[in-house]
Parts: sequence; structure tokens; C-alpha cells
Amino acid sequence: TAGLPPDAIGGLHEKALAQLDPAHRDFFEGGAGRETALAENVRAFGRLALLPRVLRGAGPPDTTVELPGARAATPVLVAPTAFHRLAHPDGERATARAAAAAGTVLITAMAATTAVRDVVAAAREVRADASVWFQLYLQPRADVTDALVRRAEEAGCTALVVTADSPVFGRRARDDRNGFHDLPPGYAAENMRDLPGAAPGTTLDIAMSPALSWDDLRRLRERTALPVLVKGVLHPDDARIAIGEGVAGLIVSNHGGRQLDAAPATVEALPRIAEAVAGRVPVLLDGGVRSGADVVAALALGATAVGVGRPVLWGLAAEGEAGVARVLAELAEQTAHVLTLCGARDCADLDRGQVVVRGRWGV
Ligand code: FNR
Repeated sequence: TAGLPPDAIGGLHEKALAQLDPAHRDFFEGGAGRETALAENVRAFGRLALLPRVLRGAGPPDTTVELPGARAATPVLVAPTAFHRLAHPDGERATARAAAAAGTVLITAMAATTAVRDVVAAAREVRADASVWFQLYLQPRADVTDALVRRAEEAGCTALVVTADSPVFGRRARDDRNGFHDLPPGYAAENMRDLPGAAPGTTLDIAMSPALSWDDLRRLRERTALPVLVKGVLHPDDARIAIGEGVAGLIVSNHGGRQLDAAPATVEALPRIAEAVAGRVPVLLDGGVRSGADVVAALALGATAVGVGRPVLWGLAAEGEAGVARVLAELAEQTAHVLTLCGARDCADLDRGQVVVRGRWGV
């Protein structure tokens, strides 16, 4: 990655914005409501400063992290995002190849435009032990959920990520304005093909339901041997309940500001969740992570790893697999660099006291 311009990710963002179809650009970029949560995720990281430790003899940091069903070379994972083929014709296969090459985990979305078996196969072509997790929306029809889980298991996914922040679909003004509510002809949510209740050869719509509960999560856990993580937890009480339910990990997320617009910035929710979890399971975070300093701040505040959503889509839209590879390499390299500057030996060698809020840290 030597020779990258100082803001490679910013450059890919601009290139992606210029190349994407405007309605698809708005779908990838936009958020719910007034896009407050979307903006705050990024701004909250900007309000944080890092206090480095000095003369600790740490040497170059070991950035590997141990996660449920995966060991990652960097604490930066690919968050699940829908419809990669709208960003680039190579779609999820390109993302999977780049994530595998970077030695990190791809969380492939249930709403992917490539079937999970093809996504895992693409990752494993690059690296035989590549880890792919499957993101799942629990379906009101349990037989549909079961069929999806079987597909993820048979594909070789090593964990399930249940997205719990979507009892209904978020209201996104940009998509409403553009009339963007469905995939264009020629694209489909391939994981939803030929499921129970679908006519042969057709795809089922992804259902969201406010009737789903911890009972449904328990039912899922009883039917799979895969570790189950819950994504979209912001309340410390939900973190405690999730642990009582035996989840393998939590992802602090507000869905990139696409669901509840009144939700707090994820990095502001993280410390209380980490406190409630008290190290019993890994806590991950996504939302607004755009630099190695953001990654390190999240690690110091109690995250084991972070996910990135939009930056991956920028790389994909701008340059396909190579663009995703550049985004992941840049974030991994920045993370290692900032860890070194902070005197850390590894991703866990940081503490909460190393993060301060700018302008509120005495005088
Ligand atoms: C998402 N996200 C998401 N999450 C999920 O669980 N299932 C999904 O299908 C999607 N789809 C999706 C599409 C697009 C275009 C975006 C931008 C996001 C949310 C995603 O996993 C993650 O929470 C956020 O993207 C993290 O925020 P940043 O990194 O985009 O700021």
C-alpha cells in the first residue's frame, strides 16, 4: 500500500459519487429521517482525541483479533450491506475476494445480489480459510428463516449475524424522492430465491416484523450450531439480555443511520454497552468508522473490532475488487500506525482513559 495518497478513501468516495447512478448513490449514501444519526456517527468520532502512551517498548503491534468463528488479521471487518451489484457488476464476489485477501471477515447480507454459496466460494478461492458470516433478518415465517440458515451453513459461513434493529423498514427520504424501493430488472436478492412460499424460480420479499422477540432468537439458536451475534444493540439492558440468551457477540450499530434517526452515535453508545458486557463476549461496533484513529478509539472504548459499510461500497463502486482492497488496506495500515503511535502492543492493549472528548478535557 506504499505510495497511496494521504486520503485514499476520500478519493475513492469522490470517484464513486461521480460514477454511481444517482438513485443508487442516494441508496448507498442516505439515511433515515433528517439523516441525523448518519451524520452523528461520523461527527462523534471527530469529537474524540486519543491520549498516547509513551516509552512502553511495545514494538510493532499485532493487529490480529479472535472473533466467533474467525480470526482476523485486522480489527476492521466488512459490515453487511445490500445490493453490491448496483455498485459494480462484480458485486459481492469482488467484495468477498478483497476481504479474503485482506485477511478479514466479510459479513455478507441476506439482501445480497449474489447467493451466499457463491460469495463464500469467491472468498475461498482467494484464501482457503477465509471467514464469511451471514447477516440474517429473522423472518416471521420460521420455515423461511430455517431455510436461509441451512443455506448459510451449507455455504460454509462460520457465524450468523442477526440484525435486530429493523422491526420495520427505515424511512429514507432520498429513496422516497427517487422512487427507489426495489431492485431494477436483472437484479435479485439471490438468497431469497426458491424459499418456502415462493413460486419456483422467484424470490421472496424480505419481511420485517415488529412481532419478533427474544423467543425467535432462542428458536434460531436451538436450530444451529453456528455462533450467533446480534447486530443493532444500543441499550445496555438489551446487551445483558442478549448475553443471557447465549449470544456469541454483539454489534453496537444504528444501521448506519438508516433505521431510527433519533438513535445516538454508535461510538457514544459503546462505553455503556462495553460496561454491561464486561468482557463476557466480544462487542463490535459499526457506524461512521472512516480512519485508523476511529478504529483505535472504538477499541479503546471497549470494542474488539469494528465494521465498515459505506467505505467498502465506495471502493467497490469506484474500482471494483481493487477499490475494496484499497479501502481495507488503507484502514488496516492506518490502524496499525495509530496503535504504534499510541504505544499499544495489540488491539486489546488500550484503555478507556486514552479517549477524551475534545473541548471537554479540562483546560
Ligand atoms: C446497510 N446496512 C445493513 N445492515 C444489515 O444488517 N443488513 C443490510 O442489508 C444492510 N444494508 C445496508 C445497505 C447500505 C447501502 C448501507 C449503507 C448500510 C448497515 C450496515 O451493516 C452498517 O450498520 C452501516 O453501514 C455502518 O455504518 P457506515 O460504516 O456505513 O457508516
